[in-house]
Amino acid sequence: MSWSNSYRWRWGLRGCRPGFSAAPFMGAGVALGLGVMGLGGVHRWSSPDASVSPGRQVHLPMQTIVANGMGQRSGIWRHSPTSRMVPMDLLAISGSLRLDSTNTALLRAIMALAPADLRVTLYADLAGLPPFDPGLEPEAAPDPVQAFRDQVRAADGVIICTPEYAHGMPGILKNALEWTVASGEFVDKPVAALSSSPSASGGEKALAWLTQTLSVMSAHIIPDISQPIPFGRSRVRPDGEIVDPALAGTLRAILDGLARAVDARTQSGSKP
Ligand SMILES: Cc1cc2nc3c(=O)[nH]c(=O)nc-3n(C[C@H](O)[C@H](O)[C@H](O)COP(=O)(O)O)c2cc1C
Repeated sequence: MSWSNSYRWRWGLRGCRPGFSAAPFMGAGVALGLGVMGLGGVHRWSSPDASVSPGRQVHLPMQTIVANGMGQRSGIWRHSPTSRMVPMDLLAISGSLRLDSTNTALLRAIMALAPADLRVTLYADLAGLPPFDPGLEPEAAPDPVQAFRDQVRAADGVIICTPEYAHGMPGILKNALEWTVASGEFVDKPVAALSSSPSASGGEKALAWLTQTLSVMSAHIIPDISQPIPFGRSRVRPDGEIVDPALAGTLRAILDGLARAVDARTQSGSKP
């Protein structure tokens, strides 16, 4: 095991890209490392103990660590699955308004699986968006629309999970997306597009429609991780508790893939 691999292993950076070297950060890292140890905050890519509530951010002990210049965006030292040293904000949007929605439950499960350096926020006001009216564009957007646009714009990446209604995505989700067509919040935005239904198809027709819409809006859909999730209702409870262990692996891979796509975009300088 090389020195940098050893460092990565010791500090829980096993998710780092093979090319990532922790060496440049060791000088500051020695002092910081003592602080990390004191707070008991060694990061693991699969953090099982997130405290999650609907519509709120995931808060974990690691996020309380304040670092020097490199992690200053929100004062959080970022141990990334890649080499990124700032926190990453992901916005999760469920296409279902149903209280016991499987699609929302899947997003809650993703929130609970998120490591300390990924902040996943569940967008909670899909029903508060008025019907899209292009006549109001762009300055007179109602407050909920502006808030939605702001949240999408601020997010480093977006996860959308949609049910299938009559072989399409719900009108309420399409409505939300329509509000961003002219204002362009989804342009180049890394997106994990998901669907779920109780059937074996997992809502793949709704997903096809969703990806078509996102594509025409120039979103950066991540193909490897965008997928239907079949038999959703029997694999996750409404509160986000995962019943099927295989699902946890799938959801972790989605988070990992999205985080890597965000990092790749940031490093290439094409972050929107
Ligand atoms: C009006 C309506 C239409 C539906 N159409 C489809 C469909 O075309 N394909 C499908 O797989 N499921 C269909 N379903 C079942 C949904 O996939 C199922 O209710 C799912 O759990 C909804 O997602 P949610 O649990 O996140 O609310 C439909 C449900 C409703 C209420």
